[in-house]
Amino acid sequence: MTNIQVIHGPNLNLLGTREPEFYGADTLATINQELAQMAEQNAVQLQTFQSNVEGEIVSCIQQAAAKDIDFVIINPAAYTHTSVAIRDAFLATRIPFIETHLSNVYAREEFRMHSYLSDIALGVISGFGKNSYMLAFEAAIIHCKQTSK
Ligand code: DQA
Repeated sequence: MTNIQVIHGPNLNLLGTREPEFYGADTLATINQELAQMAEQNAVQLQTFQSNVEGEIVSCIQQAAAKDIDFVIINPAAYTHTSVAIRDAFLATRIPFIETHLSNVYAREEFRMHSYLSDIALGVISGFGKNSYMLAFEAAIIHCKQTSK
């Protein structure tokens, strides 16, 4: 059975109240619930993880590799723009992943236009609010089917 890990980075635990003009009104719990529904409908296993701590996200990626997770969907949040450690964790484990963002990072401040992950991701989905996660999930399922995982 396909096994997908979703990782939410720092401050995403505040979704619902955090800058709704950029991130929408849905809470992280709602997004995780919708992902769980999609997982059930597609007979895929799903784990979700949120952390405000860079090292915990690195450990989650390392553990995903050890647990035979097939695919990671990550919204690295602010660590997108700063984290060599998260980049190195993906390079070390070679787990395929999609980078997602609720907001369109290319329509915001210049510092958000640089990502330490985009060039090593399978793809990037940015700007569709919570649907960025749903689109990433669909893409992950298609990818796993095509690579028969
Ligand atoms: C974000 C965009 C990042 O620039 C920001 O630091 C976040 C959220 C998004 O989902 O749009 O925390 O990743």
